[in-house]
Amino acid sequence: MNIRTILVSLLVFNMSFNDALAYDWGKTGHRATAQIAEGYLTKKAKKQIDKLLQGQGLALVSTFADDIKSDRDYKSYSPWHYVNFEFDKKYGEETPSEFGDLVSGINKCVTVLKNEFSSEEEKRFYLKMLVHFIGDLHQPLHVGRGEDKGGNDIQVRWFNDGSNLHRVWDSNMIEDFKMSYSELALNAEELSKAEVETIRNGELLNWIYESQVLAKKVYASAEVGEKLGYRYMYDYFPVVREQLQKGGIRLAKVLNEIFD
Ligand code: ADE
Ligand code: ZN
Ligand code: ZN
Repeated sequence: MNIRTILVSLLVFNMSFNDALAYDWGKTGHRATAQIAEGYLTKKAKKQIDKLLQGQGLALVSTFADDIKSDRDYKSYSPWHYVNFEFDKKYGEETPSEFGDLVSGINKCVTVLKNEFSSEEEKRFYLKMLVHFIGDLHQPLHVGRGEDKGGNDIQVRWFNDGSNLHRVWDSNMIEDFKMSYSELALNAEELSKAEVETIRNGELLNWIYESQVLAKKVYASAEVGEKLGYRYMYDYFPVVREQLQKGGIRLAKVLNEIFD
């Protein structure tokens, strides 16, 4: 093998490696959700969270669960980023994965955080994971079909680049909008008290089912190999922004209940 072949192989390997590590909701999406949540925390919850996170904000810790994905020691948490169960069935009708999923993962985080005997270190770890997973659950394709890995296997074009349906929703649309996470949070739609209450309604499984309903629409929104661009952005980016905002409001609800 000459040096050129080695370099090209390294480049290709590195590219596919990066693909495999694609961020859920992208960093910007997770941070926007976390930043929106900050605005809905009670004083009491905020104080305890600040202490636990040693002053790091929710936005900063929101990508932790993705950052540890490539570390072997944390491999067991990989299935916690999504949940796949048959459309129009209820979660648990089929036996959930023994390796855990988004639903059991979130429940584990809440249980550890509510347990007065958990150590500070355990609580810190599961709080960071929780901030991330509540974000993930609002990406519709994280409640998608298992057969195509939540749209990861559905190849499409994003403008002139190769992509897949999952990545379009995780990051392509958000990145192309070219707003920082704090700008996205600051420019979230102004909601009435009643609208916020409606979003707060329900609990984890209701929110999961809501995402699954959206996932069906997302699957119907594009054909394999289709070139998506401005039109797709126009039709679906408002949904992305709404999901980020719902994620933030609901994350705050969950945290306020834990740290009450
Ligand atoms: N990422 C990897 N596998 C996935 C799946 N089955 N559903 C959603 N996201 C995924
Ligand atoms: Zn994802
Ligand atoms: Zn994730």
